[in-house]
Amino acid sequence: MVKETHDWIEVLTALLEAKNSYTRGHSVRVGHLADALAQVLVLGDEETKLIHLAGHLHDIGKIGVPDAVLLKTGKLTLEEWESVKQHPVIGGEILAKTAALASLAPLVRHHHERWDGKGYPDRLSGHDIPLGSRIIAVADSFDAMVSARPYRNALALEWAFSEIRRQSGKQFDPLVAEAFLILAQCAPEKLLLESSKESTVCEKGDEEKPAGADLIQRIKKSAYF
Ligand SMILES: [Fe+2]
Ligand SMILES: [Fe+2]
Repeated sequence: MVKETHDWIEVLTALLEAKNSYTRGHSVRVGHLADALAQVLVLGDEETKLIHLAGHLHDIGKIGVPDAVLLKTGKLTLEEWESVKQHPVIGGEILAKTAALASLAPLVRHHHERWDGKGYPDRLSGHDIPLGSRIIAVADSFDAMVSARPYRNALALEWAFSEIRRQSGKQFDPLVAEAFLILAQCAPEKLLLESSKESTVCEKGDEEKPAGADLIQRIKKSAYF
């Protein structure tokens, strides 16, 4: 996947999010956080790039959900909620239309599945959920928690960390949740990135965190393409 494709995808997601101040920048941050998590999990470069792009495009199917529903500040009716739940399906179908992006379709379709099988749209569980989707699920939930919403302020980082811990093995793949918590400890600046920046936080004291030494090396050499 070439850099130009990536850059156009970032532009596309910015266009989609421009009219909603509450989600502006969300898809860019989710793609970059998913990339950092893929590196913690020592995935290959190609798989990491796919997860990065799928992270940017995870909510592209919201283009098919009425604005009146997406921007509604009150409680959704059952019918409205059902239409919101279609967005991963719509997103997967949009991406499957182009050969260049078809490999991202399953990652997008399954980003709201849960490890315990209680998610949507297909109620997949455990390792039946594509790994990229399990990674995007953690990145997406974390970014949503620490962002303001019309009905609540942004939640504190520490609260979000404990929620990721609490949902390990329920909503989230335990391995991905652990990778997230390692990243939060060693390179917290990676959690809220909209664009590429060098990691500096873990330069000191690497030897104090032997379990994370390899991962810190990966984070340091991380370059968002
Ligand atoms: Fe990106
Ligand atoms: Fe979503």
